Amino acid sequence: MSLVRVVVTGATGQVAYALLPRIAAGEMFGPDTEIDLRLSDIPPMIEKATGVVMELEDGAYPLLARVSASSDRAESHTGADWVLLVGSVPRGPGMERGDLIRKNGPIFVDEGKAIAEHASKNVHVVVIGNPCNTNCLIAQHAAGDTVPADRWSALTRLDQNRATSLLATKAHLRSRDVKHLAIWGNHSATLYPDFTNATVGGTPADQVVARTWLETEFIPAVQKRGAAVIVARGASSAFSAAQAIVDHVKSLVTKTPGDDWFSAAVVSDGSYGVARGIVSSFPLRSRGDGGYEIVQGVTVDAFAKSKIDATIAELEKEREIVKDLLG
Ligand code: LMR
Repeated sequence: MSLVRVVVTGATGQVAYALLPRIAAGEMFGPDTEIDLRLSDIPPMIEKATGVVMELEDGAYPLLARVSASSDRAESHTGADWVLLVGSVPRGPGMERGDLIRKNGPIFVDEGKAIAEHASKNVHVVVIGNPCNTNCLIAQHAAGDTVPADRWSALTRLDQNRATSLLATKAHLRSRDVKHLAIWGNHSATLYPDFTNATVGGTPADQVVARTWLETEFIPAVQKRGAAVIVARGASSAFSAAQAIVDHVKSLVTKTPGDDWFSAAVVSDGSYGVARGIVSSFPLRSRGDGGYEIVQGVTVDAFAKSKIDATIAELEKEREIVKDLLG
């Protein structure tokens, strides 16, 4: 039995409330790994966090070795193996993620510094709080060389899951029948769900459903799904985000099966002409130890390239907006 130390920030928020019991139940790290679960939040939320700690204790989860809550990162982040940066000011109705950049940026400078100072030297960091790609970039820069670039990722699995579900439904099949459906670029309204390489039940997606639907309905539906949930629910997605976070970490700690891919935003190494250093979503494969490789040799046709260029241009613009925070 091994033990993993996991920090969840924004621990009193709705996403964390859906996520924490699933981590405690072993859904993220499997049945052979005990969990030291550290809830992190801002000082005014700590009393509420103690209530969440009580509920985790009351679950009597067999794998939960320890649970604690603190607003002091020197306490919560010390020795952390995984830091899940959920906390940030959430997007409200009518707001684009870009509106949040300047508001949330400074939080991620502090997180990056605290991770470099206190976390385990093997730490992996997942950024969920929006705009997650650029928040990841900010935290990664703030951490400096202490935490290698390949330990940082941001969540686009929610977009992959949304795209998968939408495509499967349209094809009258199941989500498990959809493969090689990668998300490229930013977790925003410019993201590109690449149907050109996707298969449904083993057949290329555009031979199963009409290309016009894929181009004109599927792409915008995936891009705007987060906003649609906010309008309908009056709050941003919570348990679907938690599901995506569980999937994201599981995909990194499990060797990717067969020849499939999964998507996450990672620091670009220049693959596919994506500006080096930008945190962009790519198709990935995992070695099963938390590390990944960007899948090479994926066909990017002229249509896909124009969509990828647009979302990368947005990421470069976001990097420009926060350049004073990049040290
Ligand atoms: C989502 O995609 O549902 C979340 O990232 C919330 C948002 O702001 O869209």
